[in-house]
Formats: sequence, structure tokens, C-alpha cells
Amino acid sequence: MQDFEFHNPVKILFGKEQLVKLSDHIPREQRVLMIYGGGSIFRNGVYKKVIKALKKHDLFEFGGIEPNPTYETAMKAVNLIKEQNIEFLLAVGGGSVIDATKFIAAAALYTDGDPWKMHSEKKVINASLPFGTVLTLPATGSEMNKTTVMSRKSTDEKLAFASPLLYPRFSVLLPEAAGFLPPRQVANGVVDAYVHVIEQYLTYPVNAPLQDRFAESILLTLIEEGPKAYAKPSDYESMSNLMWCATMALNGLIQCGVPVDWSVHNIGHEITAFHGIDHARTLAIVLPGLWKTLKKEKKEKLLQYAERIWHITGGTDDERINNAIEKTVDFFGSLGVKTRLSDYGIGRETIDRIISRFKKRGSLKLGDRGLVTPVIVRKILECQL
Ligand code: NZQ
Ligand code: ZN
Repeated sequence: MQDFEFHNPVKILFGKEQLVKLSDHIPREQRVLMIYGGGSIFRNGVYKKVIKALKKHDLFEFGGIEPNPTYETAMKAVNLIKEQNIEFLLAVGGGSVIDATKFIAAAALYTDGDPWKMHSEKKVINASLPFGTVLTLPATGSEMNKTTVMSRKSTDEKLAFASPLLYPRFSVLLPEAAGFLPPRQVANGVVDAYVHVIEQYLTYPVNAPLQDRFAESILLTLIEEGPKAYAKPSDYESMSNLMWCATMALNGLIQCGVPVDWSVHNIGHEITAFHGIDHARTLAIVLPGLWKTLKKEKKEKLLQYAERIWHITGGTDDERINNAIEKTVDFFGSLGVKTRLSDYGIGRETIDRIISRFKKRGSLKLGDRGLVTPVIVRKILECQL
């Protein structure tokens, strides 16, 4: 096992009766800005409940955060915060609203010029406003981690940034609200959480059996519960299980002491940057390509994955691995998530654009051992044309 530090300070309030406690977790004297997206919170009843829970607070609102949240919109919220002397932020919605709130929390106190530098130059930050979240969509794990992923329209960029100052103070997880999701978003959530686990599990063995089994338990639960939540989002039990899986998939626990990859995400973000495709769908495209391309390098973990997740024990190593890749693609397909670039109308030109962008950013060596160079990125994406 590799050395690790683990600290996760996020308080989780999970379930049906938690929203009423909101006011206990936000200091009464602070001026609060509620941040939300395109209006789903008006339709699923969460907006009214938040207003009621915070009736004694001085509450302001900022709506209109987009899926794949943009720097341009988030900066408008930063201006509002400065004008109104806001002291506490509350994100209400999915991963996009939470990510935007993290960016806004840091940008409001940023003193080194354009806050976009946090993402583009990975600047260390020294301050951020405190914030909490109310989660209505199981997918990203943003509710319990320190990462934000923001897009900048003017440059077609989508970049991540992380800081220990960006952990939410608390997150209220609402499976009931997620019952209003369209099946497409539920499918996105299952696939995103699945690939988060894979990025921290399917690397190379370091004798960390507990982390492996944590990871495998999340994958197996997603395979069991994900399709039920997809078929009927209002099924509270399966949505609850999906939501907890998604949170546990990316809160730092399963990455303790093991190598991590994240090349699927890095490549996927570029596809979204150029084409606006849902985050999870880009992962479903890239993952099979990565496995086909790095079959030899990831062989041990791919065989373990084949046996423990898909119960594949017969055939040659190569056959087992191919079978596991096929099962994974079929699983995504059963949720209506397609895995070829052509399924999304994307051709070779995009591959060229992604490669030239990666080259421009300097020597690219993604993945658990830095094996994913621009040449490998090309191979991965060409497998998925
Ligand atoms: O904007 P509103 O009106 O709220 O509608 C949203 C949005 O249209 C809707 N929605 C949310 N909750 C709902 C609902 N509709 C009905 N009922 C509900 N209860 O769903 C749509 C998608 O929402 P979004 O927040 O964009 O989805 P998701 O949670 O999948 O977040 C995706 C973003 O997170 C980033 C992705 O790159 C993408 O930008 N990620 C963030 C990560 C992190 N911070 O750690 C890690 C991930 O790998 C990912 O990169
Ligand atoms: Zn993701």
C-alpha cells in the first residue's frame, strides 16, 4: 500500500427529514446566498423547503448556473456577493451548481487577478467563503469532495481545480428530490460514479485489498441498484442506494493508498469542452478505448475486475479482458449510454483538436503511470470512432 493522508470534514445529512435542519448549520447572523441552476428546484419542491427552513436568515438568491457551469455566469454571482456582503453560500442542485458554488466561494476572496487562474494555472488559494450544499442529483461526489470543474465559454476550456478550502461545511443529500430526475440524468449519474470508482481501482496492484473491495462493493451496488433507479427514479430505496454510492465513489476514501488514473476524465473533459456532451457520456466513450489500448499495462487489474465484478473465469486472459470490456459497454448501453464517438456525431477532426490542445499544454503524461501521451490519446479515441 502507498502512503496516504485522509481527511474529509464534510458533514452528511442524508434522507427525507434532513432539510428542516438546514438553519442549525448556517450561522443565523450571516448573509446567505442560495445558488441554483435552471429551475429544477422549483419543480421538485426543494426551493420552497429551503426558503421555509431558512426563513429567519437574511437570504439572497442567484439562479441560472448551467450544466457544465461556466466561469462567465459564476463571475456574475461573485459581483453580487461583493455588492451584498454575502458571508455564506448554499448550493442547491446537482454537481454543476455545487462546482460553481465552490468556484464562486474561492473567486469572491481571490486577490491575484483573474480567478480563472485557479483552474488554468492551478494557483494555490488562501481563502474561500464557507458554503453548504443541498444535493438533488447523484453523480459527481462534489458534495463531499474538494474539487470543482468549470468551463470557460470564451476559450472552450473545461478544467478542474481542487483545494482543501473547497470542502462543503455540510451536505444535505435528498434522494426524494432526485426522484424527479429524467432517466437520462439518472443514467449519467450511474456511469459517472462507476467511472470514478474505476479511475481509482483499475490501475495496477499495490496490495491494498481493503480499498479494492471497497471499490468493488460500489461497482456491484451500482450494477444492482443503478438500473432500478434508471427504470423508476421515484423508487426511493434504489435512488438512496445510488446516491450514497455516488458520494462514496469520490470522497477520497477509496483512493487512500492506491494509485489513481483520471485519464478518462481528462480526455472526457476535452470532448465536453468542444461539443458540450454530458460529462458521463464522454467517460463512457473514453473508458473502453483506454482499456483496449492499455490492455497489457492494466492486465492484472482488468482480470481481477473481470472475475470479481462480472464473474468471468473461463478463457484466455485476453478473452476474459475482452469479455469484461464488452460487459461494461453493455451495462452502459442498458442505461441508454452509447460509447462511440460516431454515436454523438463526432469524427476525426475532434481527435486532432484534442491532441493539438494537449500538445500545446506541454508534455502530457496522464494516467496512473504517466503512460497516456498524446500518441496514446489518439489511439484511445480512434478505437471509439
Ligand atoms: O439546472 P437545473 O434546473 O437544476 O437542472 C439540472 C440540470 O439540467 C437537472 N437536475 C438536477 N437535479 C434535478 C434535476 N432535474 C430534475 N430533478 C432533480 N432533482 O439535471 C441537469 C444536470 O445537472 P448537473 O448538475 O449538470 O449534473 P451532474 O450532477 O451530473 O454534474 C455534472 C458536472 O459535474 C462535473 C462535470 O464535469 C459536470 O460539469 N464533475 C464534477 C466533479 C467534482 N466536482 O468532483 C467530478 C466529476 O467527475 C465531474 O467532472
Ligand atoms: Zn466524473
